[in-house]
Amino acid sequence: MEKLRIGLIGCGGRAGQHMQSFLQMGDKVSVVAVADPVEERRNGAAAKFGCTRIYRDYTELYDHESKATLDAVVICVEPTAHQSSETRAIDMGIPFLVEKPMTLDLAQADEIARRVEETGLITSVGFQDRYLDLIEIIRDELPKHKAGGLVYGAWIGGIPGVWWWQKKSDCGGQLVEQNIHLVDCLRYLYGEPLSVYATCSRGIVRPGIDASAEYDTDDHSTAVIRFPNNVTATLVSGCYSQGVRPRCGLYIALNDMVLDYRLRNNLIITTKDGERDIPRGVEQTFLLDQAFVDAVRTGDRSLIRSPYSDALKTLKLAFAANASMESGQVIYF
Ligand SMILES: NC(=O)c1ccc[n+]([C@@H]2O[C@H](COP(=O)([O-])OP(=O)(O)OC[C@H]3O[C@@H](n4cnc5c(N)ncnc54)[C@H](O)[C@@H]3O)[C@@H](O)[C@H]2O)c1
Repeated sequence: MEKLRIGLIGCGGRAGQHMQSFLQMGDKVSVVAVADPVEERRNGAAAKFGCTRIYRDYTELYDHESKATLDAVVICVEPTAHQSSETRAIDMGIPFLVEKPMTLDLAQADEIARRVEETGLITSVGFQDRYLDLIEIIRDELPKHKAGGLVYGAWIGGIPGVWWWQKKSDCGGQLVEQNIHLVDCLRYLYGEPLSVYATCSRGIVRPGIDASAEYDTDDHSTAVIRFPNNVTATLVSGCYSQGVRPRCGLYIALNDMVLDYRLRNNLIITTKDGERDIPRGVEQTFLLDQAFVDAVRTGDRSLIRSPYSDALKTLKLAFAANASMESGQVIYF
């Protein structure tokens, strides 16, 4: 079979990880077109693959490419830059992998999901943790125990380096931009939520001193999410840490077992008989990319664990938490 021809849209930090996967899969994939407004980035990405179709943005890429020249696109632009990055792929019938959060505009996301459904296009969203062996172990373990219990989740760190992270209107807030990975893990493990209540706080990070002058996102937030079968998860997010690394991950207290998932690193399982510490054994972004590539090559969409329509449910849950932070009200689904 010919190599899958990929167009890479956005050549920043996250794209670097996807490029690494595609280089590793060099026998079956090639990046043949790249687009980024930053010259150094687009040229750097093109050089990795010997690619000569280099564009200033995705509009230019879509204007010059077609279904005859591209088999798929991978979209890694900032959350507010999705104006037509997906709709043009849909118009052209080109499958796409898009990074989370897929947009900050839910009406736009609904329209994209509707058109994906209508056209039957293969899509994938970058919820890498769904491909993680440790999450698979938790998912297999849960049904073997009495249902119900408490889950504590945390993603606490510093402020990521990308320019668009400092304003909530650009990134959506930490829960939407970053901790959405754990929001998605919760949905993957427990199904659809019943309700969410969330609070947020500012004042620790000083704009212009600890962050850029325009910093206005939450320093931390706490979301209480209720799921069916008596599961309640408390998910905290924080970006005010400096020089220390608070523990991140999910801590699941079952009636006869504790699953202590240390974010993308290891899983400690404790029962009355003792403790088992399991290290991560896979590179989950590689598996995410491989699943997308294989799905497009074979048409087997069951390989994809987070298609656009499902990822939209996670995005809506994170946005509902944001709405609760603003209104002080519980949001019921
Ligand atoms: N799945 C994950 O684990 C993961 C990890 C990191 C980031 N992300 C997500 O990936 C996305 C990108 O994040 P990043 O860290 O790479 O950001 P980044 O700022 O490093 O890269 C974004 C790139 O998109 C380019 N861009 C902007 N508008 C464009 C356009 N019209 N056409 C083509 N390129 C355009 C920018 O110039 C920039 O180089 C974000 O949504 C982020 O949340 C996901």
